[in-house]
Amino acid sequence: MITFDGVEVTYGTFTAIPQLDLTIRKGEFFTLLGPSGCGKTTALRSLAGLTTPSAGRISIEGRDVTTLAPDKRQIGMVFQNYALFPSMNVADNIEFGLRVRRDGRHERAQRVREAADLVELSQAQLVKNLDELSGGQQQRVAIARALVLQPKILLLDEPLSNLDAKLRQQMRGQLKKLQAEVGITTVYVTHDQDEALAMSDRIAVFNRGRVEQVGTPQEVYDQPTSEFVCTFVGESSPLGADLLQVLFPGAQLAGPAFLREERASMVELSDAVPVVAQVELASYHGTHTTYTVQAHDTYLRVMSFDRGMRRDQGDQVRVWIRPADVLQYPPAQEDR
Ligand SMILES: Nc1ncnc2c1ncn2[C@@H]1O[C@H](COP(=O)(O)OP(=O)(O)OP(=O)(O)O)[C@@H](O)[C@H]1O
Ligand SMILES: [Mg+2]
Repeated sequence: MITFDGVEVTYGTFTAIPQLDLTIRKGEFFTLLGPSGCGKTTALRSLAGLTTPSAGRISIEGRDVTTLAPDKRQIGMVFQNYALFPSMNVADNIEFGLRVRRDGRHERAQRVREAADLVELSQAQLVKNLDELSGGQQQRVAIARALVLQPKILLLDEPLSNLDAKLRQQMRGQLKKLQAEVGITTVYVTHDQDEALAMSDRIAVFNRGRVEQVGTPQEVYDQPTSEFVCTFVGESSPLGADLLQVLFPGAQLAGPAFLREERASMVELSDAVPVVAQVELASYHGTHTTYTVQAHDTYLRVMSFDRGMRRDQGDQVRVWIRPADVLQYPPAQEDR
């Protein structure tokens, strides 16, 4: 188990993380999700021991590691740019940490083979030079290099961000499978909400150095506890006052309200309010079509999976909305 207890990290006079409290369970695939600059890498580096918190405590399995040297923490880290050695071949890259540790030659060879097997790098690839590998293969070398030291915790900082969309999708599955096989506690950093939802056991959503919500992908997506989480994770439309009056007649709603795009329907739903709307835009995505429609004072995104139906700009449609699906938040507070 990993705990962050009131951790503060500053860079000079700038406070990147004001107060972090977090518990990560053993064996968990835990993701730090948030926009650029919100402090994900800073949190990861403080866990790895590469940055020392200015206040608070970090512990691993009950042991205070706040000021412990990085190499004493039994943590493997894969950096965003991989930080591999371009002049060495694949096997030498993977072996590097074992040499530093002065393991014997036979043991080193054995471990390199095991680590290469785990990430599915072949014998032929082991003797290749690093620049002969694709981005996805280099990424696997970086993971093998971290795993070869048999760490207790694996830290991955945006490991897939340099890869193209298709390969990224593929590596997601492989990485998740690998993590489950090895059973290693993994802290994963990404700003890609899709990736976070697909891979994680639990997610911490970061905003400006603070954790807004911690939960399973389902919890974070279905019950976002703040406006920030609601708009950062998933697609949703902000609802205007006039439409809200139609959905909640007579109610006084002060704060922002949102509807997930897949919750608005062009086919009748039970317990839903029908709303007349006009199609403004239709965009075809293969699996579905997303319509942007105007309903009262609101532009709504509506997903349609009906292949037979085709609506064009200016068409009048009926959209069904369940008031219970509307996500509502208190009015914004003054800037924190
Ligand atoms: N060495 C540093 N010196 C000064 N400020 C820094 C330093 N490293 C990071 N920061 C600042 O701390 C904040 C958090 O940075 P961090 O790198 O942790 O963000 P991040 O969530 O990893 O972002 P990204 O998704 O872009 O990698 C940012 O405002 C950043 O500018
Ligand atoms: Mg970062």
